[in-house]
Amino acid sequence: MASGDNSTLFNDSLPYTVPEEYKNGVYLDYNATTPLHPEVIDTMASAMRKLWRNPSSTYSERVRDAISKARAQTSDVIGAKPEEIIFTSSGTEANNWILEAIVSWASELRGLAEGKPCIVTSDIEHDAVSKKVLALQAKGLCDVKMVSGAQGGRVNVRDVVDNCSENTCLISIMLANNETGVIQPVAEIGQELIRINIERTEKGLKPILFHTDAAQAVGKIACDVTKLNVDFLTIVGHKFYGPRIGAVYCRSEYMSILKKHPFLWGGGQERGYRPSTENTVDIVGLGQACEVVQRNLSDWASHFYKTGSYLKDSLIETFGKNLDFNFPVLSEFLLPNTFSVHFVGKEREGFKVLNQAEYLQASTGAACHSGKTTVSIVLLHSGLSKEAAKNTIRLSIGRTTTKEEIDITIKDLYQAVQKLTGIFL
Ligand SMILES: Cc1ncc(COP(=O)(O)O)c(C=O)c1O
Repeated sequence: MASGDNSTLFNDSLPYTVPEEYKNGVYLDYNATTPLHPEVIDTMASAMRKLWRNPSSTYSERVRDAISKARAQTSDVIGAKPEEIIFTSSGTEANNWILEAIVSWASELRGLAEGKPCIVTSDIEHDAVSKKVLALQAKGLCDVKMVSGAQGGRVNVRDVVDNCSENTCLISIMLANNETGVIQPVAEIGQELIRINIERTEKGLKPILFHTDAAQAVGKIACDVTKLNVDFLTIVGHKFYGPRIGAVYCRSEYMSILKKHPFLWGGGQERGYRPSTENTVDIVGLGQACEVVQRNLSDWASHFYKTGSYLKDSLIETFGKNLDFNFPVLSEFLLPNTFSVHFVGKEREGFKVLNQAEYLQASTGAACHSGKTTVSIVLLHSGLSKEAAKNTIRLSIGRTTTKEEIDITIKDLYQAVQKLTGIFL
């Protein structure tokens, strides 16, 4: 169907009808959160019944075994060792802790040149990184160097390297962006860091540590800490059909940093790294979700690719030049499930379009509160114009998204834009 000839889209009838099962909405917001996988529900339900005892008590061997199993399942999915995993309440906590602990560690170091420790990060990180580094900077605890993501939403390896100095203690660059889906050159930065850290050791300087926030990557693309050459990595369960908790991966040789600089103060749980009675139910759920990813990643990836291609083709056929893809979709640098698009022109703001949509549930690049529109900084920093960012809709598909759901989405978007602008595209 060519753009401008949408006569068959609705068989000349509006409103269109959708099957009963989609009446509650078509969910294409899987980057925001995912439902629990059925195997995860079963594991958690069983844990609720059987594994409720205090893990620290002598009689709770079964509970401790279940937590150990979850630790091994979680480490497996990222190619780490079980002892390198610490469970946290969320991805936000994991990111905050890693950043704060490394700044504290670096501040204490002897042999560091004069000046504060410095973090090199990007201007397209999730708030759980960017706001934390800015808070540490505002407290006078560190300096921050931000590299730009403006070239197609992807940071440049050279920029990262060039921003490192003697005082740099940490590089924190996300593995894949939640809004744009753009995969960052983490493995390439990791390779550069090997060379840089050899030179630093020769000069008697401590190595620069490397953290990646992999919240959006696990369950969508392969994540192996040894290939990425990262020292710290953030895992977020509810982005891959697990519960709403997180985990920190920390390379064995740096575990002492986290032990010495806890984020919370309290009891000796989680082997003394993180206090608070272990959340067994969510921990075993996270472990199960990781195991499900291990078993299914290639099937999910091909589903994302097939369904994503169908979505892309349908958007192009239906909307033609009225709709732009913000980033080159289905490329090796993009998550296969994420489609950041915008309708071209006035009165086509993403939130207005979605307000008119009957079924589609997705995210937008701008929000409107009390008549004031706030545009996503990440999209602007990823190189989009203000209008493109304002008009952006992020469609993120899941492992069960069907072609039928894509068909409804297309019709819904079409009628929404028509209602909004009064024009047939
Ligand atoms: C890239 C990224 N990092 C961190 C987080 C924070 O996760 P949570 O809200 O579960 O703490 C998110 C969640 O949207 C995310 O997308």
